[in-house]
Amino acid sequence: MTARWEAEATVGARPDDDYAGEERSDGERARLVETDLASEDEVLEPTLRPQTLAEYIGQTRVKDNLSVLLTAAKQRGDALDHLLFAGPPGLGKTTLAAVVANELGARLRVTSGPAIERSGDLAAILTNLEANDVLFIDEIHRLNRVVEEILYPALEEFKLDIVIGQGPAARSIQLELPRFTLVGATTRTGLLSSPLRDRFGLVMRLDYYAPEELAEIVGRSATILDIACEEDAAVEIGRRSRGTPRLANRLLKRVRDYAQVNGHATITEDIAADALGFFEVDHLGLDWMDVKLLTLLCETFAGKPVGLTTLANACGEEPDTLEDVYEPFLLQQGLIVRTPRGRQATEAAYIHLGLHCAK
Ligand code: ADE
Repeated sequence: MTARWEAEATVGARPDDDYAGEERSDGERARLVETDLASEDEVLEPTLRPQTLAEYIGQTRVKDNLSVLLTAAKQRGDALDHLLFAGPPGLGKTTLAAVVANELGARLRVTSGPAIERSGDLAAILTNLEANDVLFIDEIHRLNRVVEEILYPALEEFKLDIVIGQGPAARSIQLELPRFTLVGATTRTGLLSSPLRDRFGLVMRLDYYAPEELAEIVGRSATILDIACEEDAAVEIGRRSRGTPRLANRLLKRVRDYAQVNGHATITEDIAADALGFFEVDHLGLDWMDVKLLTLLCETFAGKPVGLTTLANACGEEPDTLEDVYEPFLLQQGLIVRTPRGRQATEAAYIHLGLHCAK
């Protein structure tokens, strides 16, 4: 596989797309969370993405930090320091990288850790950069060690060491690279090697969005997409979006479909609630997969701690997907806890499912 490479400042295809065509054990059931990226999203998402920090809703602390760094770099006429965005999927790491590039008036180049398989892939990317380009590497924790080590001098001294030939005839040459800014994104800061982490000028953690921020995002997206959506309806959609703008936008589009098919020109709070119920998104934003996980923990495993792999096998998902996509929100909501012996449902999970707590 060659490195995924996008020319120009578009971020339409995302590493999450990798999951888009994946077979699912529960294949018939659509899931509206981060792992599904329908083609409609690929087309519409770029239009919904904010272009500037001023348009970007939420993540106030991150925006404030970025604003200082951007202003300082622009005042000095210097390239921006390398940045790392950490946090669960769907919170806008790619969008922020595009905003950074846009604010700098620079090009954005997008790739991902798993797409850069060999040192040659990275060399091709780096030697194609122009001065001040922003290079976005999603899932940077998944870069392999060989590639990572080539990246170090590129980040620190803007130099690339290449070995040409093999055996006794092999020789090493050093190429000068233009000054560029690496924006790395990771869902798992813990998996990043410390030498790599140390090479970022700032590590910023993105948190789940507040329901009112999501309502604002839904309102903004409805305006862009020309969807008549009342404020209370936007609040309802925001409340059920699991703290995630990508899901908020997706739910808005599904609610629009539901309203349209049922002959409603305007999305009201009641229509939004009906539509979300129809798509099996409950009032906390949990969908059938979350409910399945909680039910497994509460009922099948009787409230006892369960190892990640056992749980993944029981629900037909990959352990990594469980850990990166589903678990963070359930943890944040206090519905599950991580114990040394595995994942365990809390009393809140029993209450949410309307079950009697066996513990
Ligand atoms: N669309 C997706 N994420 C957004 C954000 N954080 N602000 C505004 N619009 C968005």
